[in-house]
Amino acid sequence: MKNKKLSPLIGLIILLIALYNLYFANIIKIFSIINPLCVFICAMFFRGIYDVKIDENTAIHFEKYMKRYPQLYQYLADIVKKNITDNIKKPVILDLGIGPGLLSKEINKVLPEAHIIGVDPSEEMLKLSKKNAYVETKVGGAENIPIENNFVDVVVCRFNLTYWKDPKKGFSEVNRVLKPGGKFVIEALNRDFSYLKLFVIRIFMILKGSGFDIARYHFDAYKTAYSMDCVKKFFRDASFEIVYSEGEKKDWRYVFVGKKIDT
Ligand SMILES: C[S@@+](CC[C@H](N)C(=O)[O-])C[C@H]1O[C@@H](n2cnc3c(N)ncnc32)[C@H](O)[C@@H]1O
Repeated sequence: MKNKKLSPLIGLIILLIALYNLYFANIIKIFSIINPLCVFICAMFFRGIYDVKIDENTAIHFEKYMKRYPQLYQYLADIVKKNITDNIKKPVILDLGIGPGLLSKEINKVLPEAHIIGVDPSEEMLKLSKKNAYVETKVGGAENIPIENNFVDVVVCRFNLTYWKDPKKGFSEVNRVLKPGGKFVIEALNRDFSYLKLFVIRIFMILKGSGFDIARYHFDAYKTAYSMDCVKKFFRDASFEIVYSEGEKKDWRYVFVGKKIDT
């Protein structure tokens, strides 16, 4: 909220600097070089007063941008594989908040026998996931997972905890659908990551052609992200034992693996 209130004000100040530079451009030539930069930064700040929703275009832009980074998905797919108990021939995996299915596509490669179920509230994302991976899809969210009790071997959730309306309910839903001893692999944005570094990343994303909507989508996601301590508590409260973790307070993301405790 605080950032949203500040954004238009900072935008206005930068716009005034840009106009001032424009006015004196003939006299002080050096300022005319700074001008486009000022206008650029200003435009980005002004965007802070608008929300970006996942419409079809945002989903397609997200897919296009993230397809450049298959290694990020391969990395998490390997963690999922390590958490499948050896004697399970045809594991059931839930890709919660599947998005365009790029993680499931990598899981298909390392675990070809697995039955993957993709759940997401966005029908646009589910359409893309069907195109990219061999998955069964279901419309739904973490707070109300459309799957029966004790059905899944591993739940994996990549960068969508930030959108859950009720994380406590979400963690207990994940526990409900997991078989006894099943694992919950979560990769999430770190709330404690520096705001300044985030801003620089946003500029790089735009320069690398992410599009304003995706840079904005990424930036907004941090506003509702959770700290590592918070996620540890969510795990504990939902009867999980944390069996693996990576990431530190200063990092932009972290990974946790929780094991469902038999109750
Ligand atoms: C940043 S995308 C990540 C997609 C995918 N996991 C990936 O890493 O490519 C976030 C996804 O979370 C989904 N999402 C939003 N709210 C959700 C909820 N309450 N439960 C599960 N997924 C949700 C969005 O529709 C979107 O597809």
